[in-house]
Formats: sequence, C-alpha cells, structure tokens
Amino acid sequence: MARITFVALDGSAKSYDAAEGVSLMRCAVDNDVPGIVAECGGACACATCQVLIAPDWLDRLPVAGPNEASMIDEDSGERGMVRRLSCQIEVTPELDGLVVHVPSSQY
Ligand code: FES
Repeated sequence: MARITFVALDGSAKSYDAAEGVSLMRCAVDNDVPGIVAECGGACACATCQVLIAPDWLDRLPVAGPNEASMIDEDSGERGMVRRLSCQIEVTPELDGLVVHVPSSQY
C-alpha cells in the first residue's frame, strides 16, 4: 500500500491509498482523477494517461520501457517535472508519499 497524491491543474490535491501492484493509472481512474483519460486501459497504446513527476522521485520508478519512451517526448515535461505514462508505473511501497501532477494536456 502506498499513499499517492494527485494534483490537478488548478493546484487542488487529493490523496488515495493504492494497493501494491496496481498502476498509477488504475488508481487515478478508479478515483475519477480529472485529466487522466487512459483510453486504452493500460495497454501502453494511447498516451492519454500521462502524468508529471518531480525528478527526485525518478530513482524509485521503473525506467521507461521502449514502448513508453517512444510515446513520450523527452522534452515535454512541464513545471520542472518529467512526463511519464501512469499505466506503466506500478505502485510499490517505495512510492508511498508520491505526488503526481496532471499535465496541461494529454494530446
Ligand atoms: S492508458 Fe493508454 S498508454 Fe497508458
């Protein structure tokens, strides 16, 4: 279990307990986090589950695989954060306290 906080574009934040092994995308969708669309349901095929994560969390996240890397523009980060596909990040105990920001656009 890990406590994950999602920050909306307007700066409002909500936190949820996520079970180990579920994706950040599933946590967001199950809790109706606005702005996380996830059209493909986690198949790494739509890039509409993008989130922004502060660089100091990156060493606790899995490295983006080739499919994810091909769908994310390396320079597309915002507000000093890195863009990732939330469906490709499984919750682990090490992610307890993670803060995830919704990007300005999924397209
Ligand atoms: S849900 Fe489609 S790429 Fe993540």
